[in-house]
Amino acid sequence: MVHKVKGVVARSKGAPVTLETILVPEPGPGEALVDILTSGVCHTDLHYKLGGISDDFPFLLGHEATGVVSAVGPDVTNVVPGDRVVLNWRAVCGNCRACNRGEAQYCFNTHNATQKMTLEDGTELSAALGIGAFVEKTLVAAGQCTKVDPDADAAAIGLLGCGVMAGLGAAINTGGVKRGDSVAVIGCGGVGVAAIAGAALAGATTVIAVDIDPKKLDRALELGATHAVDSSASDPVEKIRELTGGFGADVVIDAVGRPETYKQAFYARDLAGTVVLVGVPTPDMTLELPLLDVFGRGGSLKSSWYGDCLPSRDFPMLISLYKQGKLDLDAFVTERITIDQVEEAFDKMHAGAVLRSVVEL
Ligand SMILES: NC(=O)c1ccc[n+]([C@@H]2O[C@H](COP(=O)([O-])OP(=O)(O)OC[C@H]3O[C@@H](n4cnc5c(N)ncnc54)[C@H](O)[C@@H]3O)[C@@H](O)[C@H]2O)c1
Ligand SMILES: [Zn+2]
Ligand SMILES: [Zn+2]
Repeated sequence: MVHKVKGVVARSKGAPVTLETILVPEPGPGEALVDILTSGVCHTDLHYKLGGISDDFPFLLGHEATGVVSAVGPDVTNVVPGDRVVLNWRAVCGNCRACNRGEAQYCFNTHNATQKMTLEDGTELSAALGIGAFVEKTLVAAGQCTKVDPDADAAAIGLLGCGVMAGLGAAINTGGVKRGDSVAVIGCGGVGVAAIAGAALAGATTVIAVDIDPKKLDRALELGATHAVDSSASDPVEKIRELTGGFGADVVIDAVGRPETYKQAFYARDLAGTVVLVGVPTPDMTLELPLLDVFGRGGSLKSSWYGDCLPSRDFPMLISLYKQGKLDLDAFVTERITIDQVEEAFDKMHAGAVLRSVVEL
């Protein structure tokens, strides 16, 4: 049986998204069918719509989601119908070079569903990040389902499926922030603020938020930053040094992803410190740095994809901390919207008015 459901599609580069009838097949071997409950609107969905990720239109958008498994295909053992899940884009293979050396968070061969969802005329859809979640029902690889506690707000915990996990993990996993560290985060959108919350959770005693928009700084202070620097008004490198005894921060996270913010991160860190790049640059960007500074300042320069998370390890742990009141995921849910309001949500995101709009299905 093929399921007929409504979903949000980007048909061509830059065109407004449309609500379409989507045909979703029954799950085959290794696949799971999931009834979506909530799906956050992430910057990456907008990148897909604008053609910034690939030209494989039409896209079924949405990927930051919570749902309930409604059916599973043969050979699926990790979930059963009725399980509450958060969807992930890191279903690890267990067999590649990274998995074989015990570093599954870098898996080079992650899984997606084998069968395609289509439009009514049979046109195959490309699912955003191999998920596609602005839709009533979606088909994923079973490994993309992480079983979670059903007794937690779906909209809040679904954000762990992408942006919030990317930020938290940039601090906790990639940056390895420890108790007593000083941390600076450049760019305080959803990802940067999550990095701030992650640094605070890991026990950093100085957490410096940097943004060019003062509104973003107020919110960052509410979510764990100890200091705020408006980098449109003053030099963030000097300010971060001033706030860290003249030395620079132990860990600096670039959650913007531009050459100028990366250079700020590079020079605002202490000797032997760590820079984490989590913001995503565009193909035209290049970076020039004195090689002697790269050598002489020591430490490490790292990139963070999806916060170097392992969904099966990190989602349940972070949901537990959320339920204990130690991680305020609710603060990331700015508004709850319906499936026909995704285009407006993109406008609000572009204007910097929201941390996250979450579609409730
Ligand atoms: N690495 C990953 O796995 C991953 C996952 C999700 C998103 N991302 C990326 O993270 C980045 C941030 O995402 P987001 O959802 O927080 O975006 P956002 O648009 O909500 O936030 C960006 C923030 O950066 C600020 N900013 C812009 N230019 C700046 C500058 N020159 N100096 C200081 N601040 C500046 C903006 O005011 C805004 O607050 C994006 O590039 C996104 O694609 C990466
Ligand atoms: Zn692997
Ligand atoms: Zn995302």
